Amino acid sequence: MSTHPSVDALRDLDRLHHIHPFTNHPDMHGSGTHIIKSGDGCFLVDQNNRRLLDGLAGLWCVNVGYNCAEIVKAVTRQMEELPYYPSFFNSTTEPPIRVAEFLAKKSPARTKRTFFSNSGSEANESALKIIRAYHKLRGQPGKFKILSRSFSYHGVTLATSSMTGLPTVYEPFGLPLPGFIHVPGPHAYGHNSPLDPEAFGKWCIEDTARTIREHGAGTIAAMFVEPVQGAGGVIPPPPGYLAELRELLRKNDILFVADEVITAFGRLGDWFASNLWNLDPDIITLAKGITSGYLPLGATMVSDEIAETIHSAGYFAHGYTYSGHPTSAAAALANLETIEKLGLVERVRNDAGPYFQEKLKELSAHPAVGEMRGTMLIGALDLVPRGGRSAITTPNTLGLKAAALIREEGAIVRGIRDLIAVAPPLIITRAETDHLFDCIRRGLDKLWD
Ligand SMILES: Cc1ncc(COP(=O)(O)O)c(C=O)c1O
Repeated sequence: MSTHPSVDALRDLDRLHHIHPFTNHPDMHGSGTHIIKSGDGCFLVDQNNRRLLDGLAGLWCVNVGYNCAEIVKAVTRQMEELPYYPSFFNSTTEPPIRVAEFLAKKSPARTKRTFFSNSGSEANESALKIIRAYHKLRGQPGKFKILSRSFSYHGVTLATSSMTGLPTVYEPFGLPLPGFIHVPGPHAYGHNSPLDPEAFGKWCIEDTARTIREHGAGTIAAMFVEPVQGAGGVIPPPPGYLAELRELLRKNDILFVADEVITAFGRLGDWFASNLWNLDPDIITLAKGITSGYLPLGATMVSDEIAETIHSAGYFAHGYTYSGHPTSAAAALANLETIEKLGLVERVRNDAGPYFQEKLKELSAHPAVGEMRGTMLIGALDLVPRGGRSAITTPNTLGLKAAALIREEGAIVRGIRDLIAVAPPLIITRAETDHLFDCIRRGLDKLWD
């Protein structure tokens, strides 16, 4: 394929000056950075003018696709009227008030108040600080430890990468920090367990209960839980697991934080995954799909009890220059109203989600697939080489290899360890879903060749 000369020039500049997130730089510099230049609906066009179906919705976030005129118009209008003003010191602007109201209308019963930030990491970091302040104000400053699970992803600040249950994320930085405790996530396949997923889920609950007893419930402040674990490998909860976990935490007076950075805003067929499992969270953290990625925005929704406890102290000494940024909030409002107007949540629940799962299941018969996982519009295929699982070698690179082959076939998916993860925009049609899975099948055929 011929390459436009300016692509090489851009790649050179990229190599010289740009440090990328989550990237093996020597590999990328060897193969050349993949530069994307435009997007439309579910499709992207790269610098070589190749049209690629985006099977990961950017980074699990472009829910309304790449051509939402309403968001562009709302952002332009806001930029022209008032590009920025803070929400510090008794002030704010209209857009964050409207977004907080919208979220409150859709959220579970107890979480109706929102603190804004710029990302999922900041939403979780803010939750951590609010939790510490809350317990301190209730006279329990010793209740500060945090539980999270293996294969979880909660962000990359010092504290949130201490929660993230992926050694590749915390080990290089000498983390986790003291007080961050990891318990097993309900991923039987990933833990190489002989138990089936449901039995493994039960074992996880027993192990979490054991950990709480060992540390003492009086020392544990909260547990962070993605209803469906995403970046750790797409791990839906086994039957009964979330209900039992919720009960265990309630009994031990440990706050339940639903990290819905990926799962909110329609991907699972509801505005909030917490509604699907009646999680009754004390705190919900949000980002990504809140603006469909058009602008950065994070949000931390808290229960009235937490909000009132924090308010009772008077001054709340936490916040970012861009908390409640009016232009990001205008993007969020237009995005949320578009999701509502197009009925995307119902569309995923009744059509796009079940159809996606049907296609995913068809592929699970492929000889390169060791396990298929997913629900609604999110899925993963854990891959095996010829010779089966026992022939897998470390470092685990099958996912990256498969993703590269699938991209050659015309679609973007995410390679993680030995798996590929798929989570397209919510607007994906049946024909586009067929195309996506055709590309994946052809890529896996080549991987298996
Ligand atoms: C569940 C979850 N929480 C938190 C984060 C961190 O969000 P950000 O990358 O915006 O900081 C992510 C990002 O993938 C996520 O998937």
